[in-house]
Amino acid sequence: MHMRPSTRFFKGLTLILPLLGPGSVFGQSTPTPVPCVVYPATAVEQKQIFSTFVGEFYVKRDIPRAFTHIAADYIQHNPFELDGITSSFDFLNPIFSNTSVTVQILHRVFEAPYGWLHYRVDGLLEEPTAILDLFRFNGTCVQEHWDVIQELPVNATNPHPLF
Ligand SMILES: *[C@@H]1O[C@H](CO)[C@@H](O)[C@H](O)[C@H]1NC(C)=O
Ligand SMILES: *[C@@H]1O[C@H](CO)[C@@H](O)[C@H](O)[C@H]1NC(C)=O
Ligand SMILES: *[C@@H]1O[C@H](CO)[C@@H](O)[C@H](O)[C@H]1NC(C)=O
Repeated sequence: MHMRPSTRFFKGLTLILPLLGPGSVFGQSTPTPVPCVVYPATAVEQKQIFSTFVGEFYVKRDIPRAFTHIAADYIQHNPFELDGITSSFDFLNPIFSNTSVTVQILHRVFEAPYGWLHYRVDGLLEEPTAILDLFRFNGTCVQEHWDVIQELPVNATNPHPLF
């Protein structure tokens, strides 16, 4: 989880400091993250960045910091959000910064340039919910995202647990 990021990654990170820009156009007090700048990255470097991103987003729940790994022209397939970093940030930051919404990572895979994460969320929908996030990397940055969301039915037919 806490692998040492490459020197090139640190150089990239330094170039995008300061990490947080001014408040969003909607006048919220939450800072909008400065987007990730795409630099070439090897599969090993991408795996390290994915690990960092997962730690920041799903474990530390530091959403502004996690979003510094996301490209400005992020391609978003979730039907409730729009393309571009701002729409996704404004949608996800209130949800995932809220520690009443709990996250339990179940499975994760990285196969460059794709990172997959399967996790349980409580407090988001009425019932415990399984989410699978798929991210595509472009160099050092997360460029594209798909997700599949399944809420546990109240009277599930299958007695085998969802999680
Ligand atoms: C945090 O999530 C809980 C549970 O979903 C909800 O009741 C509460 O209103 C949320 N708090 C904020 C600040 O959004
Ligand atoms: C990667 O990012 C660069 C710079 O934004 C862009 O020109 C290029 O189309 C992107 N490539 C892919 C495969 O997403
Ligand atoms: C679940 O099953 C119980 C017991 O059969 C029933 O009372 C309840 O209405 C069902 N709930 C839903 C949402 O189907």
